[in-house]
Amino acid sequence: MAATSYDVVAYPATIFPATHPGRLAAIARFHGLDAPAIETARVLEIGGGDGVNIIAMAAAYPRAQFHNFDLSSAAIARGDALIRAAGLTNVVNRVGDIMVAADTLEGPFDYVIAHGVYAWVPPPVRAAVMRIVGRVLAPDGIAFISYNALPGGHLRQVIRDLMFHHLQGIDDAAARLKRAYEVLEDFARPRPDERTVVAAMRDVARPMLRQHPETLFHDELSGEWHPQLFSDVVAAANAEGLAFLNDASPVLVYDGMPGSDDDDAAVVRLAQTTDFGSLAFFHQTLLVREGRRPARRLDPAQLSSLFASSQAVRIGPDRFKIKDDEFTIADTVFADRLAALAARWPQRLPVGDVADTADRQEALFRLFAAEVVGLHATPLPGVATAGPRPQASPVVRAQIAAGHRNLFSLDHNVVTMPVDGPLAFLALLDGSRDRDRLATDWAASGHGHEIDVDSALQQMAAAGFLVA
Ligand SMILES: C[S@@+](CC[C@H](N)C(=O)[O-])C[C@H]1O[C@@H](n2cnc3c(N)ncnc32)[C@H](O)[C@@H]1O
Repeated sequence: MAATSYDVVAYPATIFPATHPGRLAAIARFHGLDAPAIETARVLEIGGGDGVNIIAMAAAYPRAQFHNFDLSSAAIARGDALIRAAGLTNVVNRVGDIMVAADTLEGPFDYVIAHGVYAWVPPPVRAAVMRIVGRVLAPDGIAFISYNALPGGHLRQVIRDLMFHHLQGIDDAAARLKRAYEVLEDFARPRPDERTVVAAMRDVARPMLRQHPETLFHDELSGEWHPQLFSDVVAAANAEGLAFLNDASPVLVYDGMPGSDDDDAAVVRLAQTTDFGSLAFFHQTLLVREGRRPARRLDPAQLSSLFASSQAVRIGPDRFKIKDDEFTIADTVFADRLAALAARWPQRLPVGDVADTADRQEALFRLFAAEVVGLHATPLPGVATAGPRPQASPVVRAQIAAGHRNLFSLDHNVVTMPVDGPLAFLALLDGSRDRDRLATDWAASGHGHEIDVDSALQQMAAAGFLVA
């Protein structure tokens, strides 16, 4: 296959928590829908680059099957190296073209993920992405499609036009990136006494400067950059026998759960109206097969089969903080339970342990929409306590062996390890050492004085790194 721009400039490989089947299944449950069990699911990623997103999932769910394909053979080769190093046997990573797969890929898949593809490919490829989903999604499956959206995309288009104006005649990739940053930096600088609308456009440019250079290269500087109207994406899905479930972003959960008995067309129209009002720029649209009829009014009891997690920090009897936002919970029992939940983060507790009445379940749902609480279909993957021969996630061990510090935890988060001790400890957890041998090798590692083996094992299990 011919080299693609993704072979020339590698796209930064990372994982996307919002794509995780456990999250998608939880959202389906709010809507009163059953979702396929994750432990045994078949998961497809379309255009997943290296495939690290599903490779990280595969380490957590050894009985599930994961399949990624991408046009870039360089990206697939990098992913294959990680699969081999981790010794995973439940991932297939292939070089493949969406245009071909649209007519040939065999399903069914319980979960289908297309992250960062739909709005970054030409129209026929975009249509083929949706055709694949329509062909291979299992009857009770859930698909995830992310894309840059309109009308917010119109604002970025102004900046894109500005950059392209200054890039005329510059062909070399590195030189284009350098010039693009110079142009962005200059444009983003505020000027005194300017019109409000111009100052607002400078705000649009600023986050673009904070992107990875490779991301900017493949996103706003790419020849293929086609933000989509949410309602057009849903129309394309409908044409393939698919229907809108919700957005994967908690802050947009009321898009698909407006609390009315409206039909799907009215739900989509309302969500599109919201997009115009908020100048929406990004969506992570979830789709199910037409005919599944997701409930659009929350039945709080539906939450009781789920698990909750939280990173909220209690700062007073009824006061909490998350990132820079503070909030109050007047129900003292509920406040105590939220604090107890957060104290165990990233562990998850059954929703019933936190919210045992309809009022509290509704409050929990509002906290989910505010990104204070996470809701999941399963407990934290991995083991809660280390076994006799402790074993860390094989992907984490392969990452450490390759010199990485940004590790993919079993609950699908990136955990950065700034110091060497925890890396050295995790590297020892290959399932071959019993506690005595572990204690000897840990003492010999030069880090043994930092923490005792039992405490370190407890910390690693609590952080979602241990599979045995
Ligand atoms: C912006 S990158 C996103 C990669 C990854 N999904 C992510 O979000 O990090 C777009 C990906 O789509 C892939 N791609 C583009 N056209 C394709 C096609 N026709 N068939 C398969 N993959 C394609 C590219 O190789 C690239 O890996």
